[in-house]
Parts: sequence; C-alpha cells; structure tokens
Amino acid sequence: MAVDLLLGLQWGDEGKGKIVDVLTSKYDVIARFQGGPNAGHTLVFNGEKHVLHTIPSGIFHENKKNLVGNGVVIDPVIFKKELDKLAANGVDCKSTLLISRKAHLILPTHRLLDAASETSKGKAKIGSTLKGIGPTYMDKTGRNGIRVGDIELSNWKEKYNALAKKHQSMIDFYNVNIQYDLEELENEFFEAINVLKTLTFIDSEEYIYQAKVKGKSILAEGAQGSLLDIDFGTYPFVTSSNTTAAGACTGLGIAPSDIGEVFGIFKAYTTRVGSGPFPTELFDDIGKTMGVVGHEFGATTGRSRRCGWLDLVALRYACQINGVTQLMMMKGDVLSGFETLKVCTAYTYKNQTITHLPYSIEPTDITPIYTAFKGWKEDLTQMQNESEFPEALNTYISFLEKELNIPIKIVSVGPDRRQTIFRV
Ligand code: IMP
Repeated sequence: MAVDLLLGLQWGDEGKGKIVDVLTSKYDVIARFQGGPNAGHTLVFNGEKHVLHTIPSGIFHENKKNLVGNGVVIDPVIFKKELDKLAANGVDCKSTLLISRKAHLILPTHRLLDAASETSKGKAKIGSTLKGIGPTYMDKTGRNGIRVGDIELSNWKEKYNALAKKHQSMIDFYNVNIQYDLEELENEFFEAINVLKTLTFIDSEEYIYQAKVKGKSILAEGAQGSLLDIDFGTYPFVTSSNTTAAGACTGLGIAPSDIGEVFGIFKAYTTRVGSGPFPTELFDDIGKTMGVVGHEFGATTGRSRRCGWLDLVALRYACQINGVTQLMMMKGDVLSGFETLKVCTAYTYKNQTITHLPYSIEPTDITPIYTAFKGWKEDLTQMQNESEFPEALNTYISFLEKELNIPIKIVSVGPDRRQTIFRV
C-alpha cells in the first residue's frame, strides 16, 4: 500500500494538524517526518483546542499508531510537557506512540546556541522559534549529534557531556549576553529523558516497511511549509530540514516509488512568521483585518504572523517541487467580508513578467502582479456543503484550480474538525 503525504505549501501554519486529524480515520499509521517543537499543530474538536509540537496529529484517535520518524528532532523537555497535557486529556500514548531510534535529540545547549546565534545576527536574524532546531540539525549533518537510540547505550552520558562542553565553548565564542543556569536546564532534561525511556523506541524504517507489506495505510505528516525548506525555501530565512516531499523519504525511510497521494495544504491567503521576503505582504488595514479575523498568532511562540494575498507563483512552485495531487484550502472563512480579493499570478522581475520563483524574491527585485476578484459577504463557518458556497467563492476556487491544474478537494471554513467541506 502506498504512503500518502500531507504537507504545507506556504511558510507554515497552513492548518496541517487539523487536516491530519480529519483524515486519520482512513489510516493505520500517522508518521511525522521532519522538524521538531518549532511546529505547532492546532486541533479543535468537542469545543476544545489542542496544540501538538512533536507528537503526530493522529494521537487523539484510538487504535492508530503515531510515529515520530528519524527526520524529526526531539526536545525531551517539550515532549514530556506534551505527554503530560495529553494524559490530562485522557490520552495515554504508551501503546500508540512510537519513536525512531534514529531521531536526534535537542540538548539544552542546542537551545542556548540557537539564542546565541540569533542574538549575534542582530537585524539579520532569521526569526527562529529558538527551540534549538538549527544547531541540532547542524550536529546531525556534522556527525556529532545524539540520537534517541544512544540513550539506550551505557556510555551515552559521556557523549552528552562531551557535546554539551563543546557547545558551551561555542556559546562563549558568540560573545553575546545569554543568561542561563545549565544545571537547572540539565536536571529538567535528564528527568524528561527518563520519561522518554518509558516509550517504545523502534527502527522506524523497518516498521514502516513491514506495515506496508501487511497492507497498512500510512499518512506522513509534514511540519512547517515548503517555502521554509532548507534547499527550496527562501534561504537563509528557512528552517533547517527538508519540509518538502523528499523530506518524507529521508525522514521516514520511504522509497519514492511508495508515495501515493500528495496532499498540499494552503491558506486562502498567505502568512509568514519570522523574518524573510514575502512579496504579497500587506501593511495596510486589509492585512491587519486578516490577522485579527484569522487569529494569526504563532501556536508555538505567540508572535503575530505577517499577512498578505495569496501568491500563486510561490504556490505553483511548491506544487511542482512536491508533486501535489490534491489541494486543500484552509481558512476560506477568513476572507468573508472583503470587498475585493487579490491573487498574485506573476511577478515583474528585471522589467520582465515571470511566473516562476526567481533566485531572489526580495521586494527590491520583484513586484507582484495581481488579478482582482469580487469578494463575498456570507459567513462560511456554519456551511456544511459546497452547494451553500457563494458564487464569488466558487469563482475564486475555480480560478485557483485552473491556474494550478490540481483539484481542491477540501475547503476548511473554521478551526473545528466539523468545519471541513469535502468537494466532489
Ligand atoms: P526555526 O526552525 O525555529 O529555526 O525557525 C526558522 C524560521 O522558520 C523562522 O522564520 C520561524 O518563524 C519559521 N518557522 C519554524 N517553524 C515554523 C512553523 O511551524 N510554522 C511557521 N513558521 C515556522
């Protein structure tokens, strides 16, 4: 059986968690393949909101396996907090949560290094979530990292001490003012490691292979978005992992030929949190209204998200890189009430009109070209069926489908599980 992929097509925060939760009933295994606690996947059901950072979004469904793949980086302290919250909500993860031995650990000093590196950059900072993501992936590719499987070995504390010591000299090298009490951070870390040890560690690539052989269905869950991909995103304002489809192959051990559907999730407009270019960003009242109506505040950091019109040049690029087979449009309800809606269909770049993403999308290099649409006034949040959609929304959807040449199968009209409209 093929492995289906679900990933974000913009700068993250598209609503992946909600759709994974909605689709979980169709799958046996939900597997996260990259990123770490920089992610904040929000799920709303039965009037309650839940935010997951590292644990896959299928965790609220009984009898489903949730796997944290080798491509993920785990902060045991944040992981423990997630487990505690789930337990308080009556979700016991012991039998359903599986962790790859090859996933890397975020040490307290990785977080400190992240803070030191960002501080030293001054105005050029990435706007990192400061969860230690970059330094942990640097240690992974630098072949210095500590993996989950290491904590089963007798000498792992020696390895830990050597790496933490190296990190401290690197922090000193940055020569910035970072206040910390390492002893306190380490106590918390080792306590969390003991909790992590009570969970099931697996060789996840073998587990996935066997699941596939037995005909089990698997959904691979991405984090962040395609434009934050370390290779194809708006470098250097990106995260440190491959957020695109290829990341699912390396982050879980899936062969490319085993990939089935690729679900691409995008918002009906665009948002970005942190620094970096954003061609269709709005600095006026329209952008402010989108932020307020869409509750555009980071689920992990609480920072307000920058808002702007939908960018089809960037979206087309993301569909292309990922091989998207089905689209899912989120937050359609947020666009209700705008007189006019705009969609960027091309850029002016060096006095030419282009429809592909150039090397630089800095505002000094490109100007977006827009197509305008009539807006709609109707509140979409209570709608149950696409037949209730206003004509102007149908026009908007048809235009996007035609431009991207991919069907939009789901339109989300609110944060709740039930506010999900399947299009036929
Ligand atoms: P880092 O991955 O925490 O180092 O952050 C790098 C960049 O990616 C920053 O601009 C963050 O705001 C952004 N970022 C990281 N994770 C997410 C996410 O889950 N949603 C949206 N933006 C993210």
